Amino acid sequence: MYNLHNQLLTINYPMAYLIKNIKKLVQVETKPVLLRAGKDMQTVKCIDNAFLLTDGDKIVDFGKMSKLTEEVLAQSKHKIQEIDATGRMVFPSFCDSHTHIVYKGSREIEYNDKIKGLSYEEIAKRGGGILNSVKKLRKASEDELFDEAWERLEEIISFGTGAVEIKSGYGLSTKDELKSLRVIRRLKEKSPLTIRATFLGAHGVPEEYKGRQGEYVDLIINEMIPMVAAEDLADYIDVFCDRGFFTPEETERILMQGIKYGMRPKIHANELANSGGIQVGVKYNSLSVDHLEHTGPKEIECLMGSETMPTFLPGAAFFLNMVYGPARQMIDAGLPVALASDYNPGSSPSGNMQFILSMGCVNYKMTCEESINATTLNTAYAMGVSQTHGSIAKGKVANFYITKPIPTIEFMPYSFGSNKVEQVFLNGKKVK
Ligand code: NIG
Ligand code: FE
Repeated sequence: MYNLHNQLLTINYPMAYLIKNIKKLVQVETKPVLLRAGKDMQTVKCIDNAFLLTDGDKIVDFGKMSKLTEEVLAQSKHKIQEIDATGRMVFPSFCDSHTHIVYKGSREIEYNDKIKGLSYEEIAKRGGGILNSVKKLRKASEDELFDEAWERLEEIISFGTGAVEIKSGYGLSTKDELKSLRVIRRLKEKSPLTIRATFLGAHGVPEEYKGRQGEYVDLIINEMIPMVAAEDLADYIDVFCDRGFFTPEETERILMQGIKYGMRPKIHANELANSGGIQVGVKYNSLSVDHLEHTGPKEIECLMGSETMPTFLPGAAFFLNMVYGPARQMIDAGLPVALASDYNPGSSPSGNMQFILSMGCVNYKMTCEESINATTLNTAYAMGVSQTHGSIAKGKVANFYITKPIPTIEFMPYSFGSNKVEQVFLNGKKVK
């Protein structure tokens, strides 16, 4: 798809599409909202026997086939290419608000250790885990990292993702964190995906700072954050606020400095223990707090009325065989919930959002509609792009996919493990 994408930039491209005879056009909005919470998460508006019209990189119109007139078509300024979607559905592309896609190699040896009974924390303590990926990333060149990450992006595009947040966090030195973020910047420039970058210098304490965690936090605050900001490399700042990693106090200090340099927080919280991360996240108006396996009524209460999106990462809970967080209770309490893949080499080596959609239903007891909202609009909010992504609405970016012939929307989460995505459009261009 790399070559394909380069070609797409150069050849004379039909810049408008009419997708017609769509069996069901899913997640349409006439009055777009930034997120759906509580009972509203049940709402997924659909149009049967529909059309969708794009022009350039935007959606310009949609509706019932019976309403498709010359006047409607005249809204597209470019030559229109028609695609017949008979028997197929059209969904807005998934958004994936939490990934660590820039890494080198893999960690399937630890996977074996896990199967034999070692916990994530035990593996990390032995110098495995995040620090294992740090060793590999430090040895890799920017080009090597770019190429590996590019392959992962190609893969997630083919599964229907249209926007993705990517974190640094396997460098853990100023030089290697900057290297990772520069790779993300190149991916942003080259990829048809919408990408947001997050600085996660506080992902772990590197070997050379062992026993001197405070000094490493100082390095993040005094050196890394100013340098990341000087090159404008990150939209957001993240901290792994959890037992055995960074404390709520350290997290506060890092977030305050990040905010000062223009990066809104999005944090890892409550994956390994009820760590106080959610409270810190809400206090600093984090865009999202993510993981949340260990979350009780106090934390749910704390999230009520905030602008922070609770985000669950089913892939990590599945892969590490952890408890599944209380998404159901949150929705019942009136909160919104987002789902993301956490694509990374240690706790979730998959970025398949179709699988995440299924897990939303099976493991978090969300309805099909709730899970669709959690993997489209709400996860778009959790990466700051729900004004332009996450639903089919006039003026939004034309990021959507056409399914294979499928009978119902429920078939999407039901038929887990097989790729139901047939054609992919990003920025109004057909990329698959
Ligand atoms: O989101 N929890 C912290 N970080 C990652 C895992 C990173 C790794 O194990 O490489 C996560 O699960
Ligand atoms: Fe993560």
